[in-house]
Amino acid sequence: MSPLSADSQLGVARTVKALRARVDAWRSSGQSVGFVPTMGALHDGHLSLVRMAARLSDRTVASIFVNPTQFAPHEDFSSYPRNEAQDLEKLQSSGCHLAYAPPPEQMYPPGFQTSIKVEAVSQGLCGESRPHFFGGVATVVCKLLNQVRPTVAVFGEKDFQQLLVIKRMVRDLDMPVEIVGAPIVREADGLAMSSRNAYLSTDERATAGKLNKIISSMADRLSEGADASDVLNDGRMALESAGVSRVDYLEIRSETDLTPVLYGPIDPAIPARVFIAAIVGKTRLIDNWPVRRA
Ligand code: PAJ
Repeated sequence: MSPLSADSQLGVARTVKALRARVDAWRSSGQSVGFVPTMGALHDGHLSLVRMAARLSDRTVASIFVNPTQFAPHEDFSSYPRNEAQDLEKLQSSGCHLAYAPPPEQMYPPGFQTSIKVEAVSQGLCGESRPHFFGGVATVVCKLLNQVRPTVAVFGEKDFQQLLVIKRMVRDLDMPVEIVGAPIVREADGLAMSSRNAYLSTDERATAGKLNKIISSMADRLSEGADASDVLNDGRMALESAGVSRVDYLEIRSETDLTPVLYGPIDPAIPARVFIAAIVGKTRLIDNWPVRRA
């Protein structure tokens, strides 16, 4: 077996300076740079974004940073799964060229006091129960995009509202990067892959596997012309019988600007999705499903 060339080995940068040294060299030799921001505990969903970034650009950077500002004090920041050694191996085998894994003080040095607030699209859905969340996400993603300066950045449709928030921020602030959405990667039973699935007990995992079936059958009924309020009522009942502890939200919204659809048949001219956040045991899971258009 021939030894790996220096350039096919995954590099690891922990400072903006080290990151820029690598990325600037690529940029000045005319190579495009794809970027995938993550919080680590990588699974095939994350790796599908890395592979997409690698297809779209000459060089690929992925960040691993569990961002404290997007967690509320009662949330799982300290217990969030962390396994950098495994993450680096997975990135290496997915065609990533550089991992950026800064310590918290590199991202938030003493005296840090700036935040980004994206207004309307951050409201409702996850913005309702996690009011701190999208401010933390937008601020850290803005910093990461400024640090990496990629040509293209890939975000998963799993966090659909997050994708729209980032697209809006990039447009509003004239940031020179293309934002690309990537499809949701699922387990064999359809459960959307998530680092938080690791928290589920065997019974909870069985319940979690039903969420996608409930929202996909809701989406099917909507595409057949059913009334949105009937579909929502039936969906809530199905979730209750599936054994979820609590439904944070179950909504139908436009996928362009998240306008809610409350009743009546879906307007086929408007692309819509069913969005869910549900607590299974103590774990909050999110998912979404597009309504097929005739
Ligand atoms: P994290 O939850 O680690 O997710 C990183 C990226 O992977 C996000 O774009 C997310 O949508 C995508 N992703 C997660 N599960 C996926 C799946 N099953 N299929 C496809 N894509 C999936 O999202 C974050 O981190 C953070 O908020 C971050 C953007 C890094 C800012 O801190």
